Amino acid sequence: MRTKLEFDLATPQAPPKASVQAAMRLLETGFLFRYAEMGGAGNEAALLEVEFAAILKRKYCIAVNSGGSAIFLALKAAGVGPGDKVLLNAFTLAPVPGAIEHLNAEPVLVEIDERLTIDLDDLRAKAKDSGAKYLLLSHMRGHVADMMAVSALCAELDIKMIEDCAHTMGATWSGVQTGQFGIAGAFSSQSYKQFNTGEGGLIVTDDEDLAARAILMSGSYMLYAQHSAAPDEAVFARWKGHSANHSMRMSALTAAILRPQLPLIPARNARWRILHDRIAARLRNHQLIHLPVRPPEEDYTPTSLQFFMQGLSQPQIKAVIADSTAHGVPIKFFGGDAPEGFTSRAPHWEYLSPQNLPRSEAILSTLCDIRLPLGLSDAQADTLATVVLESLNEALP
Ligand SMILES: Cc1ncc(COP(=O)(O)O)c(C=O)c1O
Repeated sequence: MRTKLEFDLATPQAPPKASVQAAMRLLETGFLFRYAEMGGAGNEAALLEVEFAAILKRKYCIAVNSGGSAIFLALKAAGVGPGDKVLLNAFTLAPVPGAIEHLNAEPVLVEIDERLTIDLDDLRAKAKDSGAKYLLLSHMRGHVADMMAVSALCAELDIKMIEDCAHTMGATWSGVQTGQFGIAGAFSSQSYKQFNTGEGGLIVTDDEDLAARAILMSGSYMLYAQHSAAPDEAVFARWKGHSANHSMRMSALTAAILRPQLPLIPARNARWRILHDRIAARLRNHQLIHLPVRPPEEDYTPTSLQFFMQGLSQPQIKAVIADSTAHGVPIKFFGGDAPEGFTSRAPHWEYLSPQNLPRSEAILSTLCDIRLPLGLSDAQADTLATVVLESLNEALP
């Protein structure tokens, strides 16, 4: 008799009652747009920016309509323009190279290591070869690189780092939060992140020019004074004639849904960690499974679990995935020939110029991924692990 998981792993975390109440209050007023011509004091989006900047211990915050927009605007406000080379680690999600392409800039993909984080030797080599002056570091699936080493290398090579923190709200390296290392950090509040507003994004930075440009380009018209986590008027005066309006604002409604979730993040992350480690402890004993190493400096925030299915051919891996999916545990696969669902990698982004990534291709060829919804009970987490182990045993000769 085979085990089956009776829980939809795509179940998002519902916003708390306080979000529902705040959204209802706002809906009744009709002020859903973040700017008001009579002044926006007390606007949900402006309040969110102040609270988020405080959590990240950054001076400025800009709320926008998606994580991808946050990355695009952070890069553009940092000075990336058409034809500029932007270094990017090869394990990431499609909207990340997409944000670089959106700028008509050129992604230069950097190898990853077996921890699923950026390969520093390849970063050095490709920075030198390409002459790139920007690094977009994607903390993909919550795997945090040695940030002290990455920061030191960027300083040495005079490279500006922008962090993609879509999966790492609250994660730290040596006690420092992701989003505090680069010149800017970009976050997402899409449903499967640490907070859920369906769509949404946030930029944090201490750079006044970057902040003013991002606010102007997000589409603030000349109402930028309604931002509270923002630089002085004199900084806007430098940029307002030179910044296109890209209409990427966050709506007040999204901000109203997000604000009550901020205090919940530490508890959510703690629960994610328990779920992840509980399942990982069961899976790691199997002879065909290998888990990426997590060094003690990394305080990770796992909304999903990654493992390598080693020693199997691609058809065998696909058979395990089909079997596990049939028993209620859909496994995503990064090694497929074609992009599927949310998983894709450099060879699938055919708009890019050819990239040199043999190490990453070998690493990703066996990489599997399981979503970890917060609603999963301990017993269901155990069932999930049992399903995967049974599917693997079916595959063994
Ligand atoms: C690593 C990573 N970066 C950026 C994004 C883009 O975020 P959004 O979907 O909010 O545009 C995602 C989306 O899931 C992501 O996984």
